[in-house]
This record gives sequence, structure tokens and C-alpha cells, in this order.
Amino acid sequence: MTDNSTRTDLFSPTKLGEIELSNRIVMAPLTRGRTNEDGVPNELNVTYYAQRVSAGLIISEATNISAQGCGYAMTPGIWTEDQVAGWKKVTDAIHVAGGKIVMQLWHVGRFSHVDLQPNKEAPVAPSVIKADGNVFTSRGIEKASMPRALRTDEIPDVIEQYRHAAECAKCAGFDGVEIHAANNYLLEQFLRDSTNHRTDQYGGSIENRARLILEVVDAVTHIWGGGRVGIRLSPVTTEVGNTPLDRNVMATYGYLIQQLNKFKLAYLHFVEGTTGKSRDVPEGVDLDKLRSLFDGSYIGNNNYNLEMAISRRAEGKVDAVAFGRPFISNPDLVERLRYGIELADINNDAYYGNGAKGYTDWLKANN
Ligand SMILES: Cc1cc2nc3c(=O)[nH]c(=O)nc-3n(C[C@H](O)[C@H](O)[C@H](O)COP(=O)(O)O)c2cc1C
Repeated sequence: MTDNSTRTDLFSPTKLGEIELSNRIVMAPLTRGRTNEDGVPNELNVTYYAQRVSAGLIISEATNISAQGCGYAMTPGIWTEDQVAGWKKVTDAIHVAGGKIVMQLWHVGRFSHVDLQPNKEAPVAPSVIKADGNVFTSRGIEKASMPRALRTDEIPDVIEQYRHAAECAKCAGFDGVEIHAANNYLLEQFLRDSTNHRTDQYGGSIENRARLILEVVDAVTHIWGGGRVGIRLSPVTTEVGNTPLDRNVMATYGYLIQQLNKFKLAYLHFVEGTTGKSRDVPEGVDLDKLRSLFDGSYIGNNNYNLEMAISRRAEGKVDAVAFGRPFISNPDLVERLRYGIELADINNDAYYGNGAKGYTDWLKANN
């Protein structure tokens, strides 16, 4: 392919599983901490997503599947009727304007605080290992609380939380869901040997550590069908909370990805490198090789620019590219990339909280 046709290809329609995209530029999931206290999306959230509708696919900010899954105040949920109704306004606005949106399903595991948990209980995790990270409570930034290990007989309830949330996402009108198994939240805490020291059937061998993710995928695909379910993994990130990597990244993630093939998922989504930081990977890790084990479509993310997106696409390394921070400050990112318009720089003071400021007040180039 010539440069020009590859460039055109990035802005042409495609399909990830059963989800049809008008272009291959995806908006990465971005927590913005601007939802109501009860996790119900509001009018400001509707405006924010609608401003970014020209993305081929919007992946929603990580959305708590249950009260137990919540680790950050002012983040949205998807387990109550009011939350479903709030999200329905978002999906309606996207669909009226011709866009597509999937919901990222989130359980934070040990990245939480007793103040955010039902009855002020300890957050749940695979093992009693404290997270080295901060969470947000209504009082501000706090250290994550000491977690307790989930009992084996509680795991069916965690899977049920995912199933119920997937069902709620369907009622809320989403085009599909993305299972958040990245950035060291609950599912990746189970997968990595650094955070999972269990001795039951959910710990120890790679097969056991991958079991929870596969059981969650099974439950969620029963609601949606594989073609509308994606999964996000981050094999080499230490984010969040400076979490150590698995001792055998290639074997662990390689096993998981091969097992995922039987669900015929819409896509696999990788954070390539350390989330929001370097794209480097440790010696012995080859992310392209891991990706090639997956039979379906692939979304690449982390520190991409237009040139990288074009060249990785031309090499056949990605089917679509997810941009995170550039979508915060450039609601019309697709048009800017397409017509070579300069990008507005992100101001990271505005990442979380702060209402409309730094959220819905970024201008489009043609304003
Ligand atoms: C403010 C902010 C919020 C984020 N929230 C999420 C999230 O909810 N879920 C997730 O999987 N990743 C989240 N990420 C990571 C991004 O999706 C993405 O992986 C990262 O920003 C790297 O992509 P980029 O270089 O295009 O920004 C967040 C990143 C930022 C900067």
C-alpha cells in the first residue's frame, strides 16, 4: 500500500466483530471523575461524549460493575436503574449522531478504600497484598486500604456482578462492552503471580490465574455474543500503583489470549508498554507476537501519533488505534488527524473532577 492509501485506510469504515466503525480511530477509555455521587451519568457527561462522536468507536470511561467494584468517587456505575437511565442518554446522543460506543466494565479489586465500600468493609482482592497507590474518596486523595482475599465461594458473586452489569449495559443501549482486564485492577490482579498468591483453583498455575477472566468472558458473552465483546489487557504495565509484572509475561498472557480465541471476541485491545508512559517492553517480551496469537481484530494503544498509527496499520500490526489523552483536548481528533490540523495540548490539571472546565470546554478546530 502507498502512504496515501494507508492514510485513507485509517479513516475508512471497518468492522470489529459485529461492531461497524466509520473509521479506525478509537477513543480510549478515560476516567474523568465527573459523574454524580451515585454513579449516574449527567448532562455534562452526555455533552462530553457527544462532542467526541466522530471517533470510529468510543470506549466509555471505566464503569463500576457494583458498589464493591468501586475505587474512585465520582466515577460512573452500571448496576442500578438510575445509572442505566443516565447512560441511555449518552448512548442515544451518540447514536443520533451516527457514532458507536461500548462500555468498559470495571472492578477495581484492591484499589479502593473502606469509605467507598458497602458497610465500610475492606476492598476485595485475590490475596491480602496492599496496593501501593492512591484512590479518590469524597475527601480527596487517600492511600488504598488493606484488602481482604475473596473466598472461593464468593467468586461466583463477582462473576454475577459482571453478568448483571453486562445486561444493564445492554439495557442502556451500548453497542457492546469492553472487559477491563488491564492496568492491574481486579482481573489483572488475579492473572499476575505478583498479586495472586492463592492456593485454590484461582491461584498458582497460569491456568488457575487466568480462570476468573475466562469465566467473566464466558458470562458476558452469554449476554452479548462474542462479536460485541472486547477485552483490554496491559501485559507490561506497572500502572496503576507500581504493580510488579508477571514473572512470565509471554507464557501467562499467551495462554490467556489463546483461550480467548474460543469466544470469537470483537477485539483484543492492548496497552502497548507502560500506560501513558514509555512504549518500551522488558527483554524477552514481544507484544506483536502475543497479539498474533489472537484470531480476531486488534486495537493498539499508548502514545500513538498519526505517523505511528499510519505505519503500524500499513505493517498490518493493528486494525484500529485507540487515542486517550489527545481525545481529551481535541474533541474533533479524527478531523484534526485527517486534515493535518494542529492538536491542542492537554493540560493534565483537568483530568479528573472540576466540572466543565477542561472537560467540555475544549474547542473544535472549526469553532
Ligand atoms: C485521565 C486518564 C484516565 C484514564 N482512564 C482509563 C480508564 O478508565 N480505563 C482504562 O483502561 N484506561 C484509562 N486510562 C489509560 C488510557 O486509556 C490510555 O491507555 C493512556 O492514556 C495511553 O494512551 P494515550 O497515550 O493515547 O493517552 C486513562 C488515562 C488518562 C490520562
